Amino acid sequence: MSEAKKIDGKLAAARVLEKVRHDVAELKAEGLAPCLAVVLVGDDPASHVYVRNKVQRAEEVGIRSIEHRLPADTEQVTLLALIERMNADPAINGILVQMPLPPQIDEASVIQAIRPDKDVDGFHKENVGGLVLGQNVLTPCTPTGCLYLLEQALGDLSGKHAVVIGRSNIVGKPMASLLLQAHCSVTLVHSRSKDAAALCRQADIVVAAVGRPRMVGADWIKPGAVVIDVGINRIEENGRARLVGDVDYDAVLPQVSAITPVPGGVGPMTIAFLMRNTVLATRLQNPLAA
Ligand code: GUN
Repeated sequence: MSEAKKIDGKLAAARVLEKVRHDVAELKAEGLAPCLAVVLVGDDPASHVYVRNKVQRAEEVGIRSIEHRLPADTEQVTLLALIERMNADPAINGILVQMPLPPQIDEASVIQAIRPDKDVDGFHKENVGGLVLGQNVLTPCTPTGCLYLLEQALGDLSGKHAVVIGRSNIVGKPMASLLLQAHCSVTLVHSRSKDAAALCRQADIVVAAVGRPRMVGADWIKPGAVVIDVGINRIEENGRARLVGDVDYDAVLPQVSAITPVPGGVGPMTIAFLMRNTVLATRLQNPLAA
């Protein structure tokens, strides 16, 4: 019973990637070879793992990838010059600069330097604004993946009450916009909200993206709600390291109709939608193509 409630993010990501592989083959038949450039500055070990996974996944679906590794003491002007070159290079369709960046580099300036139609993270102001206006723009990978999982679980989201916990630029805010676009009534809950649990208890859909281990307990969840857990928190428990979400999975399981586990829920969707965004970017840059 409880297994039936578990949303399998790996399986969903595999389906998205299968579609991407098909779309890439179609673009190649039109003479377009989608290409993703990934930039890594410094030697943050987690960032190295993320970048390696992105490059590997790109290869698997037939997307060419270019990796730029720059030293930790890289000056902002050097990074901006690289972005300028990639913006102007018609062979490059997607540009991703892995965050976080070293302190001498201003992340906002870097994001704004990327051509909006190559901004596969969907972080550029033009894409953020376009999302709010309901335009056909590149949208952030993680919340777009969450929306996909919700539509798989529930079908039409129209009229549902969605509560998004967390107001980050990467997940919470774009998630709220995407859910509004899907005709949900949306409540954003954050650190200054009064009685977050009571607000959350009204939700048909809960998306938790705060980075606090097991913050969402059983008393936050209305029976039958669908819960998407974006949190990836490393904790130590009984002497061993483990990953847990923002939701207390075991506690809320009896209440929910469906829920994403951590790991194996939202995680695999982010890279899948990065690949999908690279295909969308290639089409945006070549409007007459497939
Ligand atoms: N670092 C952690 N998550 C992300 C992401 O979604 N995009 C980029 N560029 N860097 C990240």
